[in-house]
Amino acid sequence: MRNESDIPFSDDPFTIPVAERIKRLPPYLFGKINKLKYQKRVAGIDVIDLGMGNPTDAPDPLIAEKLAEAIKDPRNHRYSVANGIENLRKEVAVRYWKRYGVRLEPNKEIIATIGSKEGFSHMCLALMGPGDTAIVPAPSFPIHVYSVVLASGNVIALDVRNPEQFLSRIAYTCQHLYPKPKLVIANFPHNPSATVIEQEFFNDLVALAKKYNFLVISDFAYADICYDGYKAPSFLASPGAFDVGVEFTTMSKSYSMAGWRVGFCCGNNEMVRALATIKGYYDYGIFQAVQIAAIVAMRHCDAAVESVAAEYQGRRDVLCDGLSRLGWEIEKPKAGMFVWAKIPEPWDKMGSIDFAMKLLDEGGIAVSPGRGFGDEGEGFLRLAIVENSQRLRQAVRQIGKVMRAEPATIE
Ligand SMILES: Cc1ncc(COP(=O)(O)O)c(C=O)c1O
Repeated sequence: MRNESDIPFSDDPFTIPVAERIKRLPPYLFGKINKLKYQKRVAGIDVIDLGMGNPTDAPDPLIAEKLAEAIKDPRNHRYSVANGIENLRKEVAVRYWKRYGVRLEPNKEIIATIGSKEGFSHMCLALMGPGDTAIVPAPSFPIHVYSVVLASGNVIALDVRNPEQFLSRIAYTCQHLYPKPKLVIANFPHNPSATVIEQEFFNDLVALAKKYNFLVISDFAYADICYDGYKAPSFLASPGAFDVGVEFTTMSKSYSMAGWRVGFCCGNNEMVRALATIKGYYDYGIFQAVQIAAIVAMRHCDAAVESVAAEYQGRRDVLCDGLSRLGWEIEKPKAGMFVWAKIPEPWDKMGSIDFAMKLLDEGGIAVSPGRGFGDEGEGFLRLAIVENSQRLRQAVRQIGKVMRAEPATIE
């Protein structure tokens, strides 16, 4: 487990004296699958790619029009500010107020990031060091673990699929570990397991954070991708949240702007300032024309966000209903861009990596093996609903064919 994206470099050990932190990263578990996917594509084979939460739909045309306009202004080609331009931060404050009733001070409690992943990683670098421990959700989105590892911190991964139990294990860990955990990472709707929570969860988490003196980072990447009337709560809407933590949001999923690299960190002003300090040294911020287009997106494209969520809900139904017909035990997710599917018998015995390889090799379907998200993910596959409904129907047919071609006993 390392990163979800295709990596063009090999996993061979370095022959130059790289830093210890690089050596702390484990071998890349998606490597074999990505290599096969690449080989199939080079051979001209159509792969239905459900491997990564990388939206394939175009953003609202208004956003691209604004970008095209802003790009013509020479002033937008200079270095921008590392924290994000003020109007962008103000727009984020408006959005939090409208959606969650949360008031944010744009000059102290909001910073723009180059996608939330960049912000998240640098926040961990700002907070964590040797001897510090973070509690992260398991199964784990790789950057939740490795941004802590790269900052030389230690990780305790706690199963998140039962949120009540997750909370009581956090409390238990705080009672028994010395030194106590410094940071707890929350991520609801959760990638990869699609676990969701209600506001009370965050109320309780804030209470624990105050009791045991830890900080909280809420990764709210799937804030707007909710189904069947479910509304994902914001950590910042819980009383006292600003005293203990921050929340990351992104335009990647809600607005289908993943390649634009626009995210935000909001909340505790000291944590935001710590991130701003690191970013002030590392980068000059997002291309200003992109920031201007992002303002237009947030100001005028609410309908597009709703239709993105409706589109994913339709795809979720197609994929889940299809897999159920094949005999898979599927729980329909209430939010997020992923179906977290238990591998049916007897294929579960192959292990998730080999089964995912088989689906790709024999069926042309790329999925992420649960094992790629840590030990807790074994026995599951993560399927991203990023292809359209017609392609998802095709995917189900091809998975069915692979399953029918195999004798039902696997040693
Ligand atoms: C839980 C979670 N957090 C963060 C990200 C990264 O988002 P961004 O594009 O804003 O860096 C992703 C992307 O897949 C994600 O699933």
